Amino acid sequence: MGERPRFYLTTPIYYVNDRPHIGHLYTTTLADAIARLHRLRGEEVFLLTGTDEHAAKVVDAAAERGLSPQEWADRNAAAFRAAFAEFGIENDDFVRTSEERHKGFVRRAIASLVESGDVYLGDYEGWYDAGQEEYVPESRAKEHDYRSPITGRPLTKRCEKNYFFRLSGWSEALLQLLEESPRFVQPETRRNEVIGRIREGLADVPISRTGGGDWGVRFPGDEDHLIYVWIDALLSYASPLEAPDRQRFWPADLHLIGKEILWFHAVIWPALLMALQRTPGHEWLELPRAVYAHSFWVREGQKMSKSLGNFVELEQLRELVGRFGLEALRWYFATQGPLGAADADFAERRFAEVYNADLANTVGNAFSRISHMAERYLGGRFERPCEGGALRREAEALRSGGSADPLGLACAERGLALVRAIDGHIEATKPFRLAKQAGQEARVAEILYECAEAYRLASLELWPVLPAKMEEVWRRLGLAGYGAALGGRGAGRLAEWQRWGGLPAGSRLEPGPALFPRYEAPGMGRG
Ligand code: MSP
Repeated sequence: MGERPRFYLTTPIYYVNDRPHIGHLYTTTLADAIARLHRLRGEEVFLLTGTDEHAAKVVDAAAERGLSPQEWADRNAAAFRAAFAEFGIENDDFVRTSEERHKGFVRRAIASLVESGDVYLGDYEGWYDAGQEEYVPESRAKEHDYRSPITGRPLTKRCEKNYFFRLSGWSEALLQLLEESPRFVQPETRRNEVIGRIREGLADVPISRTGGGDWGVRFPGDEDHLIYVWIDALLSYASPLEAPDRQRFWPADLHLIGKEILWFHAVIWPALLMALQRTPGHEWLELPRAVYAHSFWVREGQKMSKSLGNFVELEQLRELVGRFGLEALRWYFATQGPLGAADADFAERRFAEVYNADLANTVGNAFSRISHMAERYLGGRFERPCEGGALRREAEALRSGGSADPLGLACAERGLALVRAIDGHIEATKPFRLAKQAGQEARVAEILYECAEAYRLASLELWPVLPAKMEEVWRRLGLAGYGAALGGRGAGRLAEWQRWGGLPAGSRLEPGPALFPRYEAPGMGRG
């Protein structure tokens, strides 16, 4: 048996000063669904998330509470970990930049770059975006009226001695990378933006800072400097994989991020890796295969921000999960979110509509129709598989996913489309009517087998986004083996499971409560 393909994907590591909110949960939930999709295909998957802890703001926030930065970071990192567990995320590791395993790696990497001449000591005179922890060159600062291009808050002037990374030397190599590997930055519009900005010219970037105490990774060989938080953070994609038994997961197949941090991932990160690869001990650091930048959740058309206080916070998401279930939230994220180039509005009303339309009335309803008819007309048993006809052809046509689906998440829409096709098939063939006619028993059994089998295929498309409910479907279909194979970070056998006839002769379909009960808004008559 050959080696299983591997898939390494990451989320951004989140600033430990923030409380977890919709943005963090969104990216991490998508990453979880993508990880499951690859596990279902039989791949060996590694999903990394974590916290970015060395921002200067952490020191102030901790001091305000009479805590050390480490204590404050410990507390908030624990909150992120707990939130991800609560929302069903199955990450394989959680990296914290204050961990020794990470700091040692960063120091060695930077020491190598000093040694190789890729990093040098110079003077920085320019602007700093404190909210984003980002250096902003004069030209870009001016273009944005000396305000943050991201948050709109005033930039601060900085004059300091810094170590610089020779980013300027990498323009050609980066342009070549972006042109030769169109998947490297996605979606396409983002790739074009990045290419445009590289063509405007690249300046060397500061990678150290002075002042602000000792919260951070010490610069190797110069005690006065700390490593700039973004360089520290980017290297967290590699530090947890340095161990010999983990290097096989490298390079990252996917860095999933939000659009505001694309520059770091599409330009600084690959340049850093190209420089590092040439230094002893870092040869393994090949370039990632893809960076995918999604857009933003907004609220009533307005950006969510701390200053506006309009973030959808954990409490509100928890409340939705209480009412609709965790999988409803995953579904909403995967199908209604800002996955492409446009932002998406988060609206509770829409949440309820999507839940009822897609989950209660379609995914859940079709399964209960099939179950009830199988119970009533077949005593809950499928005596023999059947070849199938129109519906089978539809199922098979839907399976071959489109190429315009870079993350694979269109599986949700495909699964939904197939369930709709099943509903259509039931309407067209009317097994409920045939069942009342003499001599139609075999035909009814065939129709219902075809529907159940198509539903089984749909469940495979839906599992990455709706894992618990689809595992429930599998249990009721007598296919608990699927869930068992996938449980405990296990892997599936999608190609085999997708073959027609997987629901064996003699299968029993156990009836049960509605998968997704219809939601009626309390006290809201539908006029
Ligand atoms: N620490 C840096 C990332 C370092 S990665 C090496 C950082 N952290 S953050 O806490 O600000 O998280 C940013 C990420 O959170 C975004 O890239 C995105 O994944 C997610 N989101 C934050 N707000 C968001 C929305 N309003 N909508 C969707 N996702 C957003 O930047």
